[in-house]
Amino acid sequence: MNFYVMTLFPEMVEHGLSTSITGRAMEKGIISLDAVNIRDYTKDRHRKVDDYTYGGGAGMLMTPQPVYDCYRAVTQKIKTGKMPELSELDDDMIPDKKSVRCVYLTPQGEVFNQAKAKELAAEESLILLCGHYEGIDERVLEEIVTDNISIGDYVLTGGELAAMVVCDAVSRMVPGVLTNEMSGVGESFEGGLLEYPQYTRPEIWMGKSVPPILISGDHAKVDKWRYEQSLERTRQRRPDLYEKVDSSKKI
Ligand code: ADE
Repeated sequence: MNFYVMTLFPEMVEHGLSTSITGRAMEKGIISLDAVNIRDYTKDRHRKVDDYTYGGGAGMLMTPQPVYDCYRAVTQKIKTGKMPELSELDDDMIPDKKSVRCVYLTPQGEVFNQAKAKELAAEESLILLCGHYEGIDERVLEEIVTDNISIGDYVLTGGELAAMVVCDAVSRMVPGVLTNEMSGVGESFEGGLLEYPQYTRPEIWMGKSVPPILISGDHAKVDKWRYEQSLERTRQRRPDLYEKVDSSKKI
């Protein structure tokens, strides 16, 4: 999986993803990350990338030219393996329309979930577009965006944290990123349920014992107990998810 993040703050995204599991996956070459600075593609003498909104109102909007030329550079890199600078971009180089999925991070998007993470993990390359200020001129969004994604019903100062969330969750779904021990089997949202509670040593901590069934050695009973715990936890904490569980699966 190759991630291309178009942003005004590439260091933020690089730092956020270069440690831990995603960092290791990059070192192993299972995933790659190109955080591309949209400002490097502005034609403005003063490197400006924003302007006032037509119709008035507070705040500035990102202008279409730097975003579109950055997108042209990224799609060229996907095609040829080389990222052109602004001066190397041909005016007649028009990308195949929406041939690579381009995700715009916006509170106005579809709310991100595990199913979407799995779906995006099947792509070979993904472009993520981060907005700042009041957002991005609508015309360039119409031209390049295939998916609008929100990470929740709140407003962030920019799309970078949201892009990192999406890259992290998608990476975990790419084969080879998680080792066997970290495998996603049984984790929250698998089968539409939250994960059951887990315990490690010591067997008694602060006077509290580990549920005896987990040390019984009876795997069938452990599985049944975990499933019941998952159901109960989902019912209590996420009634919205519980409602969607097939009634034949509710004990
Ligand atoms: N940009 C600003 N807020 C956002 C959100 N909640 N999700 C995705 N991108 C955003």
